Amino acid sequence: MAERGPETARRIAELARMHQRGQDIVGRLPAEDVGTQYHNDLSPLGWHLGHCAFIETYWLREVVLGTNAITATLHGVYFPDLCEKAARPELVRGRDRLLEWTSAVHTENLALLANPPDRIREHRLMIADYLLEFLIQHYAQHLETMHYVLAQRQLRLADPWTPTGKLTSASRSGETAPLPARSVMIGCDKPYAYDNEQPRHEILGAGVRIAARPVTNAQYLAFMEDGGYRRSELWSAAGWEWLANSRVDCPALWRRSGRSWHEVSAFGPRDLEPSAAASGVCFYEAEAFCRWAGAKLPHEFEWEAAAQTDLLQDIGQVWEWCANRFHPYPGFRPFPYAGYSTPWFDDQHGVLRGGSEYTLPPIRRSSFRNFYTLEKRHICAGLRLAWD
Ligand code: AVJ
Ligand code: FE
Repeated sequence: MAERGPETARRIAELARMHQRGQDIVGRLPAEDVGTQYHNDLSPLGWHLGHCAFIETYWLREVVLGTNAITATLHGVYFPDLCEKAARPELVRGRDRLLEWTSAVHTENLALLANPPDRIREHRLMIADYLLEFLIQHYAQHLETMHYVLAQRQLRLADPWTPTGKLTSASRSGETAPLPARSVMIGCDKPYAYDNEQPRHEILGAGVRIAARPVTNAQYLAFMEDGGYRRSELWSAAGWEWLANSRVDCPALWRRSGRSWHEVSAFGPRDLEPSAAASGVCFYEAEAFCRWAGAKLPHEFEWEAAAQTDLLQDIGQVWEWCANRFHPYPGFRPFPYAGYSTPWFDDQHGVLRGGSEYTLPPIRRSSFRNFYTLEKRHICAGLRLAWD
């Protein structure tokens, strides 16, 4: 019998922590909120929990073990491709039934992962704990998205907030660090890496200056006060068109409170800290801010190279928009299924690096590539400046 080491035990405990977080989020909600769709781009919280339990069971039992007893009737509910977002609220079970079902499924899955039958131990997805890592990271990504849903829910609750002080603008652009021209290894070849991080390969970086910190709330306010949302010359053609249709004039979760501003987080309203990273902006806003600041967005390789050399501070407050679109690395091979990354190599998706306050440790690494279309602002995303 193959030895299952301490690493496997650690991963099983990690997956159990993900389960618990999901259960806690849904368990603390009023029952009537579990199936609510708070935003066009976001599914109900109950759907996310059911999807995580379903995906885990699908891979472990249907794909690896070869039995679809639990999942057969649920494909049309929990495979995103087979169930459009608008239909999801109808499909979410009541809170208590959902919690009971997911908790039972989680427990059985953990037992199976802790003690897999001999015949599946050599399955390609079981080698090097690939499946465990995949499930942990899948869960972590959905837990982050659930926090985006919680923030939209807090917006609806509209609890009043009086800021402690007035947010004032600061246009100083802050500390920068030079990244010399050199060759850099990009990507990750560890067994737990996603397909889109591979193959690890060498690129020749041109050399760039990059901001030590992401753009702050105080800097973003300076852009707003300087007419950032009214000056067409600061926007790309696509960005200006987006702006005309969306009529946006501040980050997604900022709200006016008297003469100042506050923001709404997943945990409720709060002060906008002047030196905290601005979040809730789409790619087009990030691009306009850069033009206003006389800077550019870093290419994702510049970001990754700088992160490797410890030049970047405050990583992990917000996902950071990069300049380029999401494309496969040379020699890319889809794994474990074509749908994870391949459909999104469509020139419509931007890349985001780093991580947000809602990002859990399993997906915090400098090679991790997040991706969204350019107009999305329900995500916890901001930017960092760079200069050629
Ligand atoms: C990479 C975060 C955009 O949440 O839609 C989750 C990750 N893929 N389940 C998403 C993902 C399949 C994905 N993002
Ligand atoms: Fe998913």
